[in-house]
Amino acid sequence: NPAKIDKIVSLCKRRGFIFQSSEIYGGLNGCWDYGPVGVELKRNLKNYWWRCMTQLRDDVVGLESSILMNRAVWKASGHETTFSDPMVDCKTSKRRFRADQLDYSECGQKPSKTPSTCGGELTQPRNFNLMFKTYVGPVEDESAITYLRPETAQGMFVQFRNVLEVSRKKLPFGIAQIGKAFRNEINPRNFTFRSREFELMEVEYFCRPEQGFELLEYWLEERLKFYDSIGINRKQIHVREIPEKDRAFYSKKTYDLEFEFPFGVQELEGIAYRTDYDLIQHQKVSGKPLDYFDEETKQKFVPHVVEPAAGVDRTTLALICAAYDEEAVTDEKGGTETRIVLRFHPRMAPVKCGVFPLLKNKPELVGKAREVCDLLRPHLAIFYDEAGAIGRRYRRQDEIGTPFGVTIDFDTLGEKGPDLKETVTLRDRDSMKQERVKIQDLPARLLAAIR
Ligand code: GLY
Repeated sequence: NPAKIDKIVSLCKRRGFIFQSSEIYGGLNGCWDYGPVGVELKRNLKNYWWRCMTQLRDDVVGLESSILMNRAVWKASGHETTFSDPMVDCKTSKRRFRADQLDYSECGQKPSKTPSTCGGELTQPRNFNLMFKTYVGPVEDESAITYLRPETAQGMFVQFRNVLEVSRKKLPFGIAQIGKAFRNEINPRNFTFRSREFELMEVEYFCRPEQGFELLEYWLEERLKFYDSIGINRKQIHVREIPEKDRAFYSKKTYDLEFEFPFGVQELEGIAYRTDYDLIQHQKVSGKPLDYFDEETKQKFVPHVVEPAAGVDRTTLALICAAYDEEAVTDEKGGTETRIVLRFHPRMAPVKCGVFPLLKNKPELVGKAREVCDLLRPHLAIFYDEAGAIGRRYRRQDEIGTPFGVTIDFDTLGEKGPDLKETVTLRDRDSMKQERVKIQDLPARLLAAIR
């Protein structure tokens, strides 16, 4: 459904999820900024992933490695020679295309055609390295070259021994990292899906050689459960085993978890059995041991690795696409209107609860609403809104996926008698049903739903 993605892009800008980077200068292709609600959504995703991987498990510890690393890392890992896409140039339009994507690319001059059907003359494919090259220090010569990391994984491999020693973990155990990575994609496209600057959430899970294939299946299950717990259910995820010819150079078996985006079924996460490839390479090139001593069997060996690696921006976009819904509802005058609602899982929603005084010109209502804000604020993200008709205020929250709305009315002040005093209406985003809840019960009630 091509129209759906256009609606989502426009909602993202209008409500402050995602803006084009450097927009006032015409943007920078492949780069995006997260606005006030987008940054909250993305953080909720990262924080929850981090909590699931580290706090809720005994066998995974965290790391934050630098984006710039010694160039030797990328020589050893194979990225300097192998991390490339085959490219062809069009001699007519002077544009460059990925050789394996000609059928989905647009000709620069005849956008209705592809580069292979427009009649332009294409060169033979040449390999183009996807890493961004840069210089460290003041002298721009060969010895100063390094790259912006194209994955966070290498930081975890080269710190394997340090982490092993300080954490005193036994195999199998993992290292988790969330961080920026950069790839000079030839055709950034599909909104934030294929970006040049993006964020990864990766675990390198170290194990005995004989456990590799089994742990790959284990992580596949774990990761499907994770998506389910953030509101992307199994039916929306396609598990695809990557055929050998399409696997990354370091992998012996890979599953991709793909999501049905409006622009097609595309990868959210790769779960790869990287074997001992990376540790062996770094051991060889650095000359430093990266092995593991098993105290029980008294054997020394280089561990194997299973890697669940998810794209933060892709998953954020998937959350928005999965949540997006439109429904016909009755408006205040009895007609019908379209309600746009993002049905986020409450744990992902950028704002958890809207707080509304029924009228803004009644100081008692506003004062009470401010009290409710103060009560809730330490526990969860709220949004106070006193502007406009109450129905409009609900709709504004529906559009950013706020699961709950609390309205302070005259009953709250006790005008209908003592029974309703200190109660508010609690509105549910999805059913739009309202119920009366005691103010003092709100924190526990809301927290139970969003944890
Ligand atoms: N480290 C896996 C990836 O970058 O996709």
